[in-house]
Amino acid sequence: MTVKTAILISGRGSNMTALLDAAAQPGFPAEIVAVISNRPDAKGLEKAAEAGIPTAVVDHKAYPDKVHFELALEDALAASGAELVCLAGFMRLLSAEFVNRRLGRIVNIHPSLLPSFKGLEPQKQALDAGVRVSGCTVHFVTPGMDEGPSLLQAVVPVQPGDDAAALSARILAAEHKAYPAALRILADGGVRFEDGRAVFADPGAETALFP
Ligand code: GAR
Repeated sequence: MTVKTAILISGRGSNMTALLDAAAQPGFPAEIVAVISNRPDAKGLEKAAEAGIPTAVVDHKAYPDKVHFELALEDALAASGAELVCLAGFMRLLSAEFVNRRLGRIVNIHPSLLPSFKGLEPQKQALDAGVRVSGCTVHFVTPGMDEGPSLLQAVVPVQPGDDAAALSARILAAEHKAYPAALRILADGGVRFEDGRAVFADPGAETALFP
């Protein structure tokens, strides 16, 4: 049995591609049933279509407000039959109502070791702060931006000559490993959201990746 999963994107879709590639492997516990973008020009839509995945656009600009945008998003998700939702570079903040309806069934990836460097340009924030390691976090989505307990984090070194582009590329390579690994654990029933925490079925689950 595979868990039907939708991926929400806004742009390039490289994490989406990593999830599609993983889900195409035999035995992977999740099946990607839809890729939905809030931007009609998202490059990831073409890649998903090439991979034979149903795509949909729910353009936030086509709706008078967030309530109507999210109703349309709900319709697209319902039509796909998705049980899980993976945000992969989806750059709209979802309302508490939307998130609370699927607590424990919606996850996000963010290019920092949360709770450090929430929000925009986290790689630049890491450089500005002078940290020596950063990385990425796959976390359950809760109503606050880039909040919610981690399922899996990957550590990435910050190298002395790094600019934001170099660090972003190194973190992105780690994201492409981290997201499929986290989705595997979640879809396998290896972790659940309980009382605001991620509770793992196997205390030895690999939830931290190192370089
Ligand atoms: C990724 O680095 C992802 O972690 C980040 O946007 C990028 C999307 O790239 N997401 C966030 O910053 C969310 N707060 P992609 O479209 O190639 O996957």
